[in-house]
Amino acid sequence: MARTTKKRVLIANGVNLDLLGKREPEIYGTTTLVTIEDELRKINPALAKAFGLEPAELNFYQSNHEGQFLEKLSEGWDGAVINPGAWTHTSLALADRLAGLKLPFAEVHLSNIAKREAFRQHSYSAPHAVGVCFGFGSASYIAGLSGLYAWFAKQS
Ligand code: DQA
Repeated sequence: MARTTKKRVLIANGVNLDLLGKREPEIYGTTTLVTIEDELRKINPALAKAFGLEPAELNFYQSNHEGQFLEKLSEGWDGAVINPGAWTHTSLALADRLAGLKLPFAEVHLSNIAKREAFRQHSYSAPHAVGVCFGFGSASYIAGLSGLYAWFAKQS
């Protein structure tokens, strides 16, 4: 039997992820952010069921403005799937906010950041994440949401 507390989950995409589909397709693929969001909406009930949970309410957000992005994280979410884009590698402000909020989140990246430029191999945000998924293209988001459900299930 599914448990009945509906979680509010934020799916947050940072800088330049609005360009998915046309941006460096050889690295990021041709799937747009709208399609990724649709894929998550579709698979959400099955992922929740796999962990014996009620499907979370998914809230989608993208911003190229760091301050607005940081403020969005503070809206009392039960959890989040976050692709911070380049802020992953540059933003102490994002890392500090995530540390302060204690927001359970999965960090995701479409590309395999471990085999790219050296500057992409350090994430300021990852130490504050429940877990990190990268290199699976749009499926990284599905893996991230799945990981977040696993974390919810462990808490209940
Ligand atoms: C990215 C990887 C980052 O290094 C890059 O700056 C992005 C996208 C990814 O999803 O692979 O904008 O987060």
